[in-house]
Amino acid sequence: MFGNAAASFRPIRIGPLQLRNRFIKSATNEGMAKGGVPSQMLVEHHRRIAAGGAAMTTVAYCAISADGRTFVDQVTLDDASLPHLRVLSDAVHREGAAACAQLTHGGAFNFLPSLSTRYPLSASGGFNAAGVISGRLLKTAMTPPDLDRIAEEFVAAARRAQQAGFDAVELHMGHGYLLSQFLSPKYNRRRDEYGGAAAQRARYPAQVLQRVLDAVGDKLAVSCKICVTEGFKGGATDDDAVEVARVLERSGAHLLVLSGGMNVEAPWAIFGSNMPAAAVETMQNPVVKFATRLMRLWEPKVNFRELYFLEHSRKLRAAVNLPLAYLGGAKSLAGVQQLMDEGFDCVVMGRALLHDPQLINKFRDGTATVSGCTACNQCVVMMYSDAGTSCVLHPPNDVAMNRMPAAAH
Ligand SMILES: Cc1cc2nc3c(=O)[nH]c(=O)nc-3n(C[C@H](O)[C@H](O)[C@H](O)COP(=O)(O)O)c2cc1C
Ligand code: SF4
Repeated sequence: MFGNAAASFRPIRIGPLQLRNRFIKSATNEGMAKGGVPSQMLVEHHRRIAAGGAAMTTVAYCAISADGRTFVDQVTLDDASLPHLRVLSDAVHREGAAACAQLTHGGAFNFLPSLSTRYPLSASGGFNAAGVISGRLLKTAMTPPDLDRIAEEFVAAARRAQQAGFDAVELHMGHGYLLSQFLSPKYNRRRDEYGGAAAQRARYPAQVLQRVLDAVGDKLAVSCKICVTEGFKGGATDDDAVEVARVLERSGAHLLVLSGGMNVEAPWAIFGSNMPAAAVETMQNPVVKFATRLMRLWEPKVNFRELYFLEHSRKLRAAVNLPLAYLGGAKSLAGVQQLMDEGFDCVVMGRALLHDPQLINKFRDGTATVSGCTACNQCVVMMYSDAGTSCVLHPPNDVAMNRMPAAAH
């Protein structure tokens, strides 16, 4: 192995958790919880990532409450999901890796058929851009009791993740979900102490983090996934992200996962590349199909390049001392070496590990130096298929396995 890429195979401590190396599988909605029930396919998906050499795999999109879901086919961290998730964490541990649960609340990014509130909750009320698709054209600003209740829901979800045998939780503060709606100047127009400049907008996400740390921080690693840039005019910039990172560091975050882009305003920024036109037409979910078609009308042409968030992420590396996990187009050993050289502590990979769960072992053994992922983004389309998310360069997953509840293993 060349140069400092060897550093990526050294263990690291993240809060109370020791990771065997620096590679983390990023949360990529697996489409493996039909009706909210984690499937055997979900277990096998994460077992393969663990067996392929990653230090930690992240179970995507675990809603903290029924209202916090975005879609019906999403894991909710409630009592019913615990036995299924326990099967998953056991399978990951048997392969020597750690398991992380990504905790989310969708806020205004919500396509559920019914909600317990009249309008979806967000940082501020008024017009809801995601509502053009969901039909919910309005959103409601969270009141102090809402802020308290939802922070408690994050705590309860983190405790359940621990009960289910997870080693870490990732608080989703990016891509336009509820906590990201607080961080974003586009969504957060509050005039109280939770609105204003970037550091004030980070106040509520930081309070949620502190409460989760108080509850489970001595047992679980607690990371935050944030945007280094929201990727559109009027969205949060990398200077804002530096302020957010400082606030989260002061609040005790064990790790920041550095992502970018927003689901509604700049999805191409999340992926560093566009969705293929043909892929949109194959979408099975009519709501998402309509949304994606609409977005294509104004999206810029974005050509994929490796490490597409590096320039923004460097600014955060220079500003804070806590462990930082680089994310965004990491796909080669040379890229990993560069990230280690530049002081990033971990490398988070999504598509490269969807394409080949064995990639980390291959990097280690010298049998591969670059991922064969073409950044075509067709796996995003697979998310809504019966078989769940997979790389289209390989055969799809087993549909029957994706229908079987995990705990029936
Ligand atoms: C199929 C698919 C599903 C995704 N679902 C999620 C998700 O549920 N939560 C999340 O935070 N990011 C999600 N992402 C974004 C990835 O975590 C990651 O930020 C993005 O793919 C860029 O990293 P990469 O270049 O290593 O793939 C998804 C990405 C893909 C390809
Ligand atoms: S479908 Fe496969 S090749 Fe295309 S972006 Fe997804 S993982 Fe990469």
